[in-house]
Order: sequence, then C-alpha cells, then structure tokens
Amino acid sequence: MARATELELPFDVEALRAARAGKRLGRFCHYFETTDSTNSVAQQLARDGAAEGTVVIADAQTKGRGRLGRSWSSPPFRNLYLSVILRPPIALGEAPQLALVVGAAIAEAIREWAPHATLKWPNDVLLEGKKVSGALTELEVVSDGIAFVIAGIGVNLNIHDDELPDELRDKAIGLCSITGAAIDRVAFADTLLARLESLYDTYLSSGFAAIRPRWEQLSALTGRRLQVDDCGRRYAGIALGLADDGALRLRLDDGREQTIVAGDVTVVDGYAPGR
Ligand code: BTN
Repeated sequence: MARATELELPFDVEALRAARAGKRLGRFCHYFETTDSTNSVAQQLARDGAAEGTVVIADAQTKGRGRLGRSWSSPPFRNLYLSVILRPPIALGEAPQLALVVGAAIAEAIREWAPHATLKWPNDVLLEGKKVSGALTELEVVSDGIAFVIAGIGVNLNIHDDELPDELRDKAIGLCSITGAAIDRVAFADTLLARLESLYDTYLSSGFAAIRPRWEQLSALTGRRLQVDDCGRRYAGIALGLADDGALRLRLDDGREQTIVAGDVTVVDGYAPGR
C-alpha cells in the first residue's frame, strides 16, 4: 500500500472544482494547506455572504473541532477535512435533523469503498466498530431564523493504524485499512459532495420523513444496548430507532421510552464482527 511520500501530496483542488462544475455543492472550493479549522473559515466566508454550496478544504488543521467540545485530530495530507456552507430554508427547531442528513450522506459515500460501514447516532460512521468519520454541524442564527449552517466533515482516509495517536488507536480507523489501497481523496470528496447534495435536496423537498428510513437502514444501533450521556444525565437501554424529528429512541430498563436529542452514545457490548 502507498505510504509516506506518495501520500504527502497536496489535495488537488483544481480536480475537485472540475468534478463539481455545474453542481450546487462544491461549485466554489477554497483550499488551504493548513488552517485552524475549516469550519471557522467557512463561518467567516458565510458571514461575508458566500453562496450555499461553498466548500472549504484543508490538508491539515491546527484546531480541528469535534462534537461536544472535543478536538479533531487533523494530521497533514492523509485525510479529508471539509466544510460546506448550507443555507436551508427550514425552521430553527428542525436544524438538528441536518446532522443526520449529513451523517447518512457520509455513510453512503463511505459504503462505495466499504459496503459494511454503519452509522452511530447522530453522525459517526463506523467500520469494524471504530470511527472512520465524524461531522460537526454548526449554525448561525438571525432574528427570524437560520442564517447558515456549516457542515464540517472529517474522514480518516489514508491514515494507517500505526500513525494514529495512542489515545485513538482502539477507537479510530482509516478507510485504507479496509480497502488495502490508498483512497483517492478527490474522488472521495466528489462522491461525498454528490451524496450530500442528493440527500440535502431530498430533505428540502420531502422533509425528514424521506431521510429517516435511509438513516435507519445504515444504523449500527437498532436493537443494541446503549449508554447515553446527555448533558450530565446518563441513560441505559435498548436503541429503538429514530423519532420523527431525528431524536434517538431508547427503551429504558424500566420499560419507559426516552428520546435523546443530544449526547454521546456508547454501545455497551460492542459491535458484532464486521459491523
Ligand atoms: C466529531 O465526530 O466529533 C466531529 C468531527 C468533525 C471534524 C471536522 S474536520 C472538518 C471540520 N472542521 C472542523 O474543525 N471540524 C470538522
């Protein structure tokens, strides 16, 4: 498998621009060899009026942000760090659904290389029970609703197990470990943006009801025993699936049903092989 120098080439943003010409997501692409966070750059561009579909890509991030205040490990050249500006005409209360739309799009893209990829609520993509991708959706609000949403996506593509930081080695995985070959980052980014454009259009035209079955079909969770940490509260129970609004439904041990709108999910007994 290609290692080191073959992989230390800058992202070919011109090739991505050519692939996305005439499409909505990715028709304007900004590339940085290094930046603090592509989400922060995209936020500033959106505040300055950048169009929906504008994409920011970096080869490395110095302050990559994850969900729940975590950081996102962003070593150079190996992976994909990408943020997209969305301007969805939806109510503020519907914004959390976008996190699931983005998750389903990433999982569908990854399945083109690894057909057994699954989703952990709300939008982590898993391979062999380890995280291959995460997404951070951040929104800015104006008095009458959503000004814009930044969909920030990190995908571990060409990072090898022995290059992962020690604390991530049993939790994270690179897609190349599954394929046994280096992933073409431009081809992956094009596939991801095409999937996201398609699911986002479906969501805007038909609502979350059209996304929910696709998310559930990709889910690693349904029927599994979970522990969920939700702002200082801990729940344990069996995952039932998604509620109409995208919340996670859990059957608690006392038989009651709990819906989770935010939080950190752990699968208690791990994942069966291959899931
Ligand atoms: C998570 O699973 O915690 C979400 C990780 C999101 C990481 C991506 S990398 C591109 C974009 N820029 C950031 O700073 N974060 C997101």
